Amino acid sequence: MRLVSTTSIQAGAILGQTIYRDNGTVLLQKGMNLTARLVSRLQDQGITYVYIEDEATKDIVVKSAISEKLRHEATSSMKQLFTDVRKSEMLSNSFVLDKEAKSLTDIIQRIMEEINDHEESLTLLTDVYLTDDYIFQHSLNVTIYALAIGAELKLNAKELSDLGKGAMLHDIGKVFIDPNILQKPDKLTKKEFEIMKTHTTIGYDLLRQNYNYSSVIAHCAYQHHERLNGTGYPRGLEGKDIHPFAQIISVADVFDAVTSNRVYRKAMLPHEGLELLYSGAVDQFDIKMVEAFKNSVAVYPNGITVELNDQRQGVVVRQNKHLCDRPVIRIIKDGMNNPVEPYTVDLSNQLNITITKCNLG
Ligand SMILES: [Fe+2]
Repeated sequence: MRLVSTTSIQAGAILGQTIYRDNGTVLLQKGMNLTARLVSRLQDQGITYVYIEDEATKDIVVKSAISEKLRHEATSSMKQLFTDVRKSEMLSNSFVLDKEAKSLTDIIQRIMEEINDHEESLTLLTDVYLTDDYIFQHSLNVTIYALAIGAELKLNAKELSDLGKGAMLHDIGKVFIDPNILQKPDKLTKKEFEIMKTHTTIGYDLLRQNYNYSSVIAHCAYQHHERLNGTGYPRGLEGKDIHPFAQIISVADVFDAVTSNRVYRKAMLPHEGLELLYSGAVDQFDIKMVEAFKNSVAVYPNGITVELNDQRQGVVVRQNKHLCDRPVIRIIKDGMNNPVEPYTVDLSNQLNITITKCNLG
């Protein structure tokens, strides 16, 4: 599989990944022949890049961080929880949350196991989800990333479980925000943004009185938009006043938000998302957490075309798990832009060679 920009796909290309619509239904099935009309449909949906199959890269596989089965179970269970909370009166929310506590614990345990078993660094680019289902897919991605950061920072099992729950439920307050504001494709007005911000306090109020959830989980909902330099919300907390778990979730949250396909803006590639986090490190994010994140996520995912510092070009074939920015590359062009008989270069043992550019062919 090869990762390409939707603006440069040739008609007749074979789609390498399934594109889901709201509610998890399929918009375009993996293996489909992309006609010019389907390509423009992808562009209209705001999809910036997709995987396609071709002869030269057919042996390159991209394994998602967690299985499709677990993703489905996790998002369904979150959806159920969010819907039940929305339907119930504030008073009985506590009951709804109690009922779901065990299944959340199980799901987090299984995500942790699947991440640990995964032989490559994490990539979540294989699935594209649009519109309504976004909040659940987003919450799940944030959970996967947050747990990966937590594991890298050597949190213990109980801490990881709380961090996972905090990540799954960080946006639960959004169930009480007007959907017209949540799904507004344009920039929010000042008043709308003030309303949007209240999802943090609403989430906190929902979670804090529930004995099945330790107070740190409620604080994840409360503080995940706070920033180290005090520019966040709702309280403008600074530095150590922000719980470390909320800080981890903010790193995961920002990364997933900027690298996801959304109708109203272009999705960044993982290395661009990381650069953005680095530019905010120290001021907004804890550098140790950004570093921990970089060590767990595929900076250059399989199938992406890259240029090296000696101008050779190639396609990423495999990840080196603990050297996430130094994958294995199949060289396809020499430094003079001439096609060559493909051969591989493993950047984990060629430390003088670096990736300088990503090209979406
Ligand atoms: Fe949020």
